[in-house]
Amino acid sequence: LEIYTISRDFFMKTVNDIRSEFLNFFKGKGHAVVPSSPLVPQNDPTLMFTNSGMVQFKNVFTGTEKRDYTRATTAQKSVRAGGKHNDLDNVGYTARHHTFFEMLGNFSFGDYFKEEAISYAWELVSKNFVLPKDKLLVTVYHEDEDAAKLWKKIAGFSDDKIIRIATNANFWMMGDTGPCGPCSEIFYDQGDKLWGGPPGSKDEDGDRFLEFWNLVFMQFEQFDGGKRRIPLPKPSIDTGMGLERISAIMQGKLSNYDIDLLRDIIEHSADLTGVSPDGDQAPSHRVIADHLRASSFLIADGVLPSNEGRGYVLRRIMRRGMRHAHLLGASEPLLYKLLPTL
Ligand code: ALA
Repeated sequence: LEIYTISRDFFMKTVNDIRSEFLNFFKGKGHAVVPSSPLVPQNDPTLMFTNSGMVQFKNVFTGTEKRDYTRATTAQKSVRAGGKHNDLDNVGYTARHHTFFEMLGNFSFGDYFKEEAISYAWELVSKNFVLPKDKLLVTVYHEDEDAAKLWKKIAGFSDDKIIRIATNANFWMMGDTGPCGPCSEIFYDQGDKLWGGPPGSKDEDGDRFLEFWNLVFMQFEQFDGGKRRIPLPKPSIDTGMGLERISAIMQGKLSNYDIDLLRDIIEHSADLTGVSPDGDQAPSHRVIADHLRASSFLIADGVLPSNEGRGYVLRRIMRRGMRHAHLLGASEPLLYKLLPTL
């Protein structure tokens, strides 16, 4: 058992390894490795928090800002609490929701488009990450015949592995205004021990089929809450892979909360409260781990708890974290003690 445990840990890629591998892969394909932008969007009053990798490049997509590269890759700090993409109330009770998470992405600003985006994604997933093809499937927007053909040509998927989706689940937009376009998502089948059906089925909300990478074929800029769309100067690419989700897949875990980075915080919380990390009160440990991350990164980016706007969302996140510490029986402040582990 000891030898097994040592070799498992030796071969297991950590979250840090996986993040680096993604960035290095795209660096090798000519992408500039660009730092994450802050969680508070710069010069964007339409958005409460940075909710995905493309936010810092919004004006590059629309052509109003020029950079000295046309390909970029990032690991972007993201918050989805408050605003269009809001996951706050799900956190703790599902295997895959977070208020704070990291999004890995590759971007093309009028450089490559669908064919290369799908080729790069397939190469990384199948060769570098060595995910078994029989566990993978993809969705495309129902009108996007090109994307379906490309998946067939590049990955050799049969028709039943390329699912056409007619809803806006496969049409990605950052918010009510801004760049947008049809998208293609890559799913991993975690097996029939979990409940859930493939995307587009009536059981799609189950945990079995896990979406871990979204490739957006950016083609339009929208205004007036989607009432008006104009084409972007050049077709572009925006992708987002959930670092916590791909890490769970690669570490053989069924929950994001079991990956090394989050599990360390949960075990620390369990040590300090004396409450099992895996029993009935596991949701509280998960809330604490998630909300500690969100609060710390928001505060580090200059947000402070207040009664309105961003500060109020932070305050709600902190309060929810503290309430769950209280539910675990902590009578003294707990979250700050976990900060060194974070
Ligand atoms: N911007 C896209 C998303 O967040 C990639 O899913």
